[in-house]
Amino acid sequence: MGLPHFVKIVEVGARDGLQNEAKTVPTTIKIQLINQLTATGLPVIEVTSFVSPKWVPQMGDNAAVFSGIERKAGVNYPVLTPNLQGFNAALALGVEEVAVFGAASESFSQKNINCSIQESLERFIPVCDAALKNNIRVRGYVSCVVGCPYEGEIHPEAVAVVAERLYKMGCYEISLGDTVGVGTPRQVQAMLQAVAAKVPVERLAVHFHDTYGQALANIYAALEFGVNVVDSSVAGLGGCPYARGASGNVASEDVLYLLNGLGIETGVNLEKLVRAGQFISEFLGRSSASKVARAMAGKCE
Ligand code: HMG
Ligand code: MG
Repeated sequence: MGLPHFVKIVEVGARDGLQNEAKTVPTTIKIQLINQLTATGLPVIEVTSFVSPKWVPQMGDNAAVFSGIERKAGVNYPVLTPNLQGFNAALALGVEEVAVFGAASESFSQKNINCSIQESLERFIPVCDAALKNNIRVRGYVSCVVGCPYEGEIHPEAVAVVAERLYKMGCYEISLGDTVGVGTPRQVQAMLQAVAAKVPVERLAVHFHDTYGQALANIYAALEFGVNVVDSSVAGLGGCPYARGASGNVASEDVLYLLNGLGIETGVNLEKLVRAGQFISEFLGRSSASKVARAMAGKCE
């Protein structure tokens, strides 16, 4: 299969990135970051999570962040909602897209959302029903699609089962997460093959953490397979509080540089994206995890 002409980049840094930061990031900094990301031309910017603040205190300012950002017409600003409680809080703020998040690994499901895979799917049904009734789009995540921090390798069929359930309950897009960043391209393609037998490939997104430095190779493998939605995180921020050792998501700047080089349209401006990454990296007091941003440092002042 040839490469796609257009790829939708789903920017997850403000959520997946900042949920895992030891340093408290003030609400105003999050809002400034998201506004800068909006100015880059990104089509989707995940804003925050409506999860328990006891589990993830970093997302405890979810309502203030969502209400504080400037929302540009045509841009999606999804938020994570693990249950009806989170969904109702998000609904009250006028969100237009939510995401439920499950896993292909039992142990990860228990650690991350405190229930089994089956219980999580039962919990997501009323969230999807309520969302669809309110004309709110729902995205579905599957974590641990190639490996699990607690169980090791995950069978592609286990991923396909969860992805299909999420799709059938109304998720318009299924994001397949290599939560610990252990996968390599052949494994990723085998996993995609199993999932695409149940969910149309044009409804799939890939979500790679870059722990083992395989994310760009895996993205290329996914593009070749026909996937045209890629999750990434500005400055390579990120991790998962319930996946110890997982590094950040693949950096959005690096993904964009790859796509630009392949002649694939995204609508995103690389210089502006690098500047947004510089902004948050300076706040966090460390250099960007994006190699492209580091190489371009000084050229985007
Ligand atoms: P639980 O303790 O089983 O929930 O947690 P519960 O229903 O028994 O409620 C217990 C308490 O939590 C109650 O408060 C509820 O009000 C409160 P209390 O009476 O004790 O004061 N609560 C909530 N508060 C705010 N918002 C809510 C909410 N729900 C309950 N929505 C729960 C279950 C799912 C809530 C919890 O496990 C949780 O919040 N987990 C979130 C974990 C998380 O955010 N993980 C990171 C995101 S997933 C990820 O990063 C992977 C991804 O990037 C893809 C990849 O890389 O693979 C997406
Ligand atoms: Mg993630």
